[in-house]
Amino acid sequence: PKVSAEHFAPSNIALCKYWGKRDTELNLPVNASLSVSLDQLGSRTRVEPIESVSDEVWLNGMRQPADSRFASRVSAFIDLFRSRHPELAFRVHSVNNIPTAAGLASSASGFAALTKALDDAFGLGLSPTQQSVAARLGSGSACRSLFDGFVEWQMGVREDGLDSHGVRLEQTWPGLCIGLLKVDESEKSVDSRAGMQRTKETAHLYQSWPLQAAADLSRLQQAIETRDFALLGSVAEQNALSMHATMIASWPPLLYWQPGSVAAMQKVWRLRAEGLAVYFTMDAGPNLKLLFEAASRPALEAQFPGLEIVQPFGV
Ligand code: DP6
Repeated sequence: PKVSAEHFAPSNIALCKYWGKRDTELNLPVNASLSVSLDQLGSRTRVEPIESVSDEVWLNGMRQPADSRFASRVSAFIDLFRSRHPELAFRVHSVNNIPTAAGLASSASGFAALTKALDDAFGLGLSPTQQSVAARLGSGSACRSLFDGFVEWQMGVREDGLDSHGVRLEQTWPGLCIGLLKVDESEKSVDSRAGMQRTKETAHLYQSWPLQAAADLSRLQQAIETRDFALLGSVAEQNALSMHATMIASWPPLLYWQPGSVAAMQKVWRLRAEGLAVYFTMDAGPNLKLLFEAASRPALEAQFPGLEIVQPFGV
């Protein structure tokens, strides 16, 4: 590589979740998933060659210890690109423009942006699909962050994973809003990687997950096709709760919820019973992501002070 490079990739929120791997080395999923990328919110990552024997990894202005989980995952990922230049070391600087306190993981956007930067630095000229395949090797959900808007992660059938990547859906949905509802700022106890492995190995309930996910994915495609918000919201909410049911049924149990998470869910259900079209989704953590349309925005701002509202489609 001759140059430094800097690229941006958006965060994405899954409406049908990726939970469980059929191959843990290649991050090949048990089920296909579907997400929506946030508009302009995500990670900006810069790579530059340095005179050193090892990589330097910076996240939001803070040097990550070389033996930290994050820095070693980043270095292992760079190894995939560095095979023909094993002597090269890089400084990687990743900045997330979503307040980390909002409880959004930075690994998806971070690995997607890192993939674009390394592709550029090494002059590889990968297509977006090839970048998506590569980003998946860093973190599964990163393969969806190579694209804007709605993205399906097609699980693929190949053992080498070359057909397992994100595909952008052509439909848009101006006015679709996501509200980041912070319940708890503390670090999650078990990360997704370990959590999904434990679920797959110990929860009998997990056997029903691939079927649930497949059914949800096609209903979401239909909701997007017909712009049926009640269908989109209800499928996304049920999908997230089904995933959490498999987590709770693991051993030792994985319960990502805090009392505040349950209180927030009950509030959403109450508001819905009162006629407000609002739904939620949740990932491997205690925070909720509310789903609603622009017309409901004032009501939700009044109900949830401090709600951070983002829009997947710039309008
Ligand atoms: C609950 O992509 O972080 O957010 O492939 O091990 O890096 P690895 O896992 P990761 O898992 C994300 C899980 C999720 C659901 C989702 O985003 O689809």
